[in-house]
Formats: sequence, structure tokens, C-alpha cells
Amino acid sequence: MKVLVTGGLGYIGSHTVVELLENGDEVIIIDNLVNSKLEVLEKIKKITGKNATFYQYDLCDYSKVSEVFEKERPDAVIHFAGLKAVGESVSKPLTYYENNLLSTINLLKCMAKYNVKKIVFSSSATVYGKPKTLPIREDASLHTTNPYGTTKLMIENILTDLYNSDSSFDITILRYFNPIGSHKSGLLGENPNGIPNNLMPYVVRVARGELPVLNIFGDDYPTIDGTGVRDYIHVLDLAHGHILALNNKIHGLKIYNLGTGKGTSVLELVKMFEKVNNVKVNYQIVKRRDGDIAECYASSDKAKNELGFTCKYTLEDMCLDSYNYHDAN
Ligand code: NAD
Ligand code: UFG
Repeated sequence: MKVLVTGGLGYIGSHTVVELLENGDEVIIIDNLVNSKLEVLEKIKKITGKNATFYQYDLCDYSKVSEVFEKERPDAVIHFAGLKAVGESVSKPLTYYENNLLSTINLLKCMAKYNVKKIVFSSSATVYGKPKTLPIREDASLHTTNPYGTTKLMIENILTDLYNSDSSFDITILRYFNPIGSHKSGLLGENPNGIPNNLMPYVVRVARGELPVLNIFGDDYPTIDGTGVRDYIHVLDLAHGHILALNNKIHGLKIYNLGTGKGTSVLELVKMFEKVNNVKVNYQIVKRRDGDIAECYASSDKAKNELGFTCKYTLEDMCLDSYNYHDAN
């Protein structure tokens, strides 16, 4: 299959591109490098021995997107591109709405024009807001608390309206839980600029002595040890979920959670990281972070039953691989 991957040089996109190339698929990438680096393309080649065709274009430029469709005529699209920092989306809402919505609308317009009907879209567990019941099922109520999350929910609604207008579209919405870990080669992973917002990149920097101490945001939640509980999933398992979604025989509009179904607290993760990497992570308990929820983990039954999705990697693997990538870089 010839697959157009938007945001294919980013964290999750690059791991998915590797798996597509390894499966013999042809890959076209559009990425404007707003949150990634060109060297990722070389690393993908180093891992797979294969080339992906790359366009350094902004998806917000309709003429550029159309040019790629005209030239490449892809069979399917995986749409990762987007801005994703929750805090930044609160301070720059228009940037988030413009980038995430305009890029998606341009992409969908080109898909309609060039008769490309299959798309897999990166949504997020953030669309569930504060969950009323756990584990979270796909039919849970939806509610967002920041502009980033709202762009994801709006795109889900756009995709639903598009499908309702033309049922020949084959649309999969994947709601990711918390991806961590990196490629086994140590060549691909997540290395955010500046001070990380997310837990794992922060833990890695403290373990390496680049940051003095991990602030744990609250130990008074109603959880196993008072710290926040999340469903961490290895990025390689997540990448594999996209391959399953592309090859799913069920046609239509489908929504799946991609998580392990298992909750892990901040302290559990820190302890596991220390143990498997034989390092010390200095931490202190500070007050809760605004907007955080106590617990969030997936019901992964639907993805398992309909896609055959299961997770191969454990929390140990996730901690080892996250550190290995940063060691190698
Ligand atoms: P990432 O920032 O590493 O990758 C996104 C890529 O999209 C980057 O390479 C960036 O340069 C590119 N991009 C952004 N806007 C673009 C535009 N207008 N035109 C072309 N390229 C553009 O992020 P990621 O962690 O790989 O996430 C991929 C997707 O999954 C995003 O849509 C994100 O919102 C979603 N998601 C991520 C997480 C997570 O924790 N990482 C969780 C849930 C959902
Ligand atoms: N945490 C800390 N200290 C830190 C960073 C995080 O204690 O320095 C805690 C948080 O309070 C939370 C847990 O670690 O309990 C995980 O926090 P992350 O910031 O890593 O992840 P979130 O669950 O808050 O959010 C992430 C993405 C969102 C996405 C969501 C659901 O950042 O974009 O997962 O997929 F929507």
C-alpha cells in the first residue's frame, strides 16, 4: 500500500513509518519540521534500509498538499501532524485551532478530490476529560479542558460529519493513552526541546543529572499511593496499532482506544525506572498540577476484539527503552 504519513518525522509517526517500511509499504511523508528534525529521515533509513519520500511542506498550505496528492496518489493516509502541548495551547489557542484544524481540513479536501478514502487519525484520551468510570470505554462521555483537546474533539466531529456525508470514507480514530519508550535501535525517540512537560522525558533528564529533581504533582489523589495514575503504552505497540487499523477489514467510522488497560502511578513508574536502569531519580512531592486528573486508563477490549490489538511491551521495556534512547543521544 502507498501510505501518506503526515507528521511522519515526529515521535509516534517515525516509529510507524519504520513499521510500514518494514512491512513493504511505500511511504510518503509530509512534515514541516515544526516539532521534529530532518535527521530522523536518515535514522529511518538506517533502521530499515529503505527510503521514504519526504516533503517538507506545511499542511496548512492547501496548494502544497494538493501537489503531493496529484504527484503521489496515495492509497491511504495516517494523520499524525499537529501541535500537541497542552499548556502552550492554553496560551496560544488560535495557533492550535489554526494549525490542527486547517491542516486536517486541507488534507480531507485533497482526499475527497483525489478519491483517497482511507484515513487513520491520531486522537487522544484527553477527549474523555475527567472520566466518570474506569477503565474508559470508547462510548464514554466526551469533554475537553484545554484548546489542544478541543482540536482533537473537533476533528473527531469533522470526521464523523464527513463520514455521514459520504460513507465510502473509511475512517479510524485512535485515542492514544500515554505513549513512552523508543525504538530498540536507540535511534528514534522523544526528545522535547526545553523543559519537558510530560513525565517520562522529565524522569530521564533527572536521571541523567540534566535537571536536579522531579516534581511529583500531588500525592493526595485517591489512588494506590496518592500519585496520578496513567496508562503508559510503548510507542512500538502504539505504532503497530496503526498497521492493524490500516488493515482492518471492518469498513466505516471506527473509534478505538490504544492503551494497555493497566494503570501505573507516578511513583510506581519512578521506582521501576530506577530499578531497571540502576539509576537514582531525585524527586519531591509538590502541589497538584492544574487540570490533572487522578486516574486515566483504557478499556482496550474493543481494539483487541476488532483489530487484534495487544501490547507486547511491559513497563520495564518502556523504562529501559526511554533511557536507552537518551543514552544514545
Ligand atoms: P510530534 O510533535 O512528535 O509529531 C507531530 C509532527 O507533526 C511533528 O513532526 C511536526 O513537525 C508535524 N507537524 C505539526 N504541524 C504540522 C503542519 N501544519 N504541517 C506539517 N507537519 C506538521 O507528536 P507525536 O507525539 O508524535 O504525536 C503525534 C500525534 O498524536 C499528534 O497529533 C498528537 O496530538 C497525538 N497524540 C500524541 C500523544 C503523546 O503523548 N505523544 C498522546 C495523544 C495523542
Ligand atoms: N507528572 C508529574 N511530574 C511531571 C510531569 C508529570 O508528577 O513533571 C505526573 C502528572 O501529574 C500525571 C502523570 O505524571 O499524573 C502523567 O503526566 P504527563 O504530563 O506525562 O501526561 P498526561 O496524562 O498529563 O497527558 C498526556 C499528554 C496529553 C494527552 C494525555 C492523554 O500530554 O496530550 O496524555 O493521552 F492528552
